[in-house]
Amino acid sequence: MSKRINPATIRRIEELKKLLHYHNYRYYVLDDPEISDVEYDHLMQELIKIESEWPQIVTADSPSARVGAPPLAKFDTIDHRIRMLSLDNGFAEEDIIAFDERVRKNIDIEEVLYTAEPKLDGLAVELVYENGKLVTASTRGDGQTGEVITANVRTIKTVPLILRQTPALGIPPLIEARGEVFIGSDGFKQLNEERLQQSLPPFANPRNAAAGSLRQLDSRIAATRPLETFIYGVGTVANLNLDSHWKLLQYLQELGFRINPITRAQIKLREVLDFFNELQKIRHTLPYEIDGMVIKVDRITYQQQLGNTSRSPRWAIAYKFEATQATTIVDSIEVQVGRTGTLTPVAHLKPVNIGGVMVRRATLHNEDEIFKKDIRVGDHVFVRRAGDVIPEVVKVVNTKRSGCETIFEMPKQCPVCGSAVVRLEGEVAIRCVNTDCAAQIKERIKHFASKGAFDIEGLGSKLVAQLVTSKLVNSPADIFRLSKESLENLERMGTKSAANLINAIDASKRISLPCFIYALGIRHVGEHIARILAVEFKMIQNLMEASEEQIESVNGIGPIVAKSLVSFFAKVENRQVIKRILDLGVQIETHVTIQKLPLSGITFVLTGTLQSMTRNIAKQKIEKAGGRVNSSVSRNTDYVVAGDSPGSKLKRARDLGLKILNESAFQKLLGDTA
Ligand code: IVH
Repeated sequence: MSKRINPATIRRIEELKKLLHYHNYRYYVLDDPEISDVEYDHLMQELIKIESEWPQIVTADSPSARVGAPPLAKFDTIDHRIRMLSLDNGFAEEDIIAFDERVRKNIDIEEVLYTAEPKLDGLAVELVYENGKLVTASTRGDGQTGEVITANVRTIKTVPLILRQTPALGIPPLIEARGEVFIGSDGFKQLNEERLQQSLPPFANPRNAAAGSLRQLDSRIAATRPLETFIYGVGTVANLNLDSHWKLLQYLQELGFRINPITRAQIKLREVLDFFNELQKIRHTLPYEIDGMVIKVDRITYQQQLGNTSRSPRWAIAYKFEATQATTIVDSIEVQVGRTGTLTPVAHLKPVNIGGVMVRRATLHNEDEIFKKDIRVGDHVFVRRAGDVIPEVVKVVNTKRSGCETIFEMPKQCPVCGSAVVRLEGEVAIRCVNTDCAAQIKERIKHFASKGAFDIEGLGSKLVAQLVTSKLVNSPADIFRLSKESLENLERMGTKSAANLINAIDASKRISLPCFIYALGIRHVGEHIARILAVEFKMIQNLMEASEEQIESVNGIGPIVAKSLVSFFAKVENRQVIKRILDLGVQIETHVTIQKLPLSGITFVLTGTLQSMTRNIAKQKIEKAGGRVNSSVSRNTDYVVAGDSPGSKLKRARDLGLKILNESAFQKLLGDTA
């Protein structure tokens, strides 16, 4: 029988190609995928299947012929022996001066010497060498656990596969070199030209190109990419006694690692600040992109004395070049409903390229923020994108107002379920009160399945939406009742994907107590708080039965969190969901270790108006970091935060000789604890 192609098949092929091209772009160019790897795979498999049935219609531009990259999730993961921390940021000289002051005060030294290096804008990696041989290379990941990318890293010419013998110190039995993998400007240009010739979408910036290259499962592809490295530090090193960061860098170079030649060693604060200005001038003449400078206390014993916060070392800071801004137009304002019902306005923008990334949306935070900045639909606005943070609207370009702009009003009803919305006293957020709101259910389930919670691979936004809409899942417990058969009935869900998802769900059933608590999505209970609670209460049942006072008496837990927990567990529905989850075979493991929260035991009083946040947010931030906020000043107050037009509390604080923080010092303090 001669086969004729059904027009519907042709249409589906075109649709699949379009979808795959789009998702490739999101993944490779924007480094911001919209669908999970499993969903992507599913689309690709469908395309390959149809193409194999109808080889005569396979074209050279098919994503199946071009893209060899299977999904990221298939890389093995590895725990770093020592956590890969992040860096605190400074944006102005004052910040660096304050950093220097903090450092000197902490170690009680008159003058400290620093080593300063350009801050490369690439990806952090860890290279583990045992007895001089490269055994593992991994990404930073979440700092704790990274992905194993050894095969790709082996293809990078500047990475030594075997270390060189050094005359003085030899080769350590174990060394974890840490540094940045990046693509230089020339390499980037050439790579994109090649991609264009092959009708592939160009990468938006060198960072995305480097990320996309390191994520290749086929290392032969990575080998064709112009990846480079600079090594700037170490994790574990066995048997090494060096007293300065600069000496460490020199030793690393002797071992065969590439060290950035622009490093300035052992300089004073003034020279650090001068070096920054110099760097800013020569920035664009460098053969690679940098986004600032990293300043490190040079002496290792001082570094050890200073230690780390939960996020970053106290002995180093990134001094960043100014954040990138651009102007564009607000096309519309959409209101999104979050997990706990909070309505968040989001600006849809005329797409604008900021520092190599196309920005289409920006958060407007809340109604107050829109009102304060007077943002209207149709306005020309300044948008800022700094690092990985969500882009935000900085201000309106008033001179460009035509008068046709429309003032935005927050809806009086939930845009998803139509229920009434409320604004609780003292809060900026407007919330939908209907806990059965489809948007809230979807967000709760998404949160429940996310990294840090049950971490169910493949259960991304689209699939969650499908599961909720088709009524297969209404509460987190329902996830554990899904069967392969029920999933297969979903549109575009094949047997293999269904089986994969069921396996992923099964694998998630053994969970640590902190992850379990975090997964419940209780207001104000983030990962950090969840860990504290887990350590304190040891079993979920203990936490469920605890009183507000008991919870509040835990170091690092404030009254807001305590109240939120008690009211969550007071609801029968929530207790039932937990019971059902456990009845369906979820097992909670209870071994956890935890660091003390950075502001534990520290008391604050707030007075006056802060520019960057409401008082309530300031309070939440302090409490999140383990501190407490009191309403009146006493001798026991550790800090008084004074905003604009402070009241009598400031006078009293001065009379008592308490420490007073202005807004930027306060933000700095919070930044240190974040
Ligand atoms: S030191 C403990 N030095 O910046 C902190 N980091 O925001 C170790 N980075 O993930 C970082 N150039 O990928 C250090 N010369 C440099 C750097 C550098 C770029 C990146 C690094 C890290 C990020 C921290």
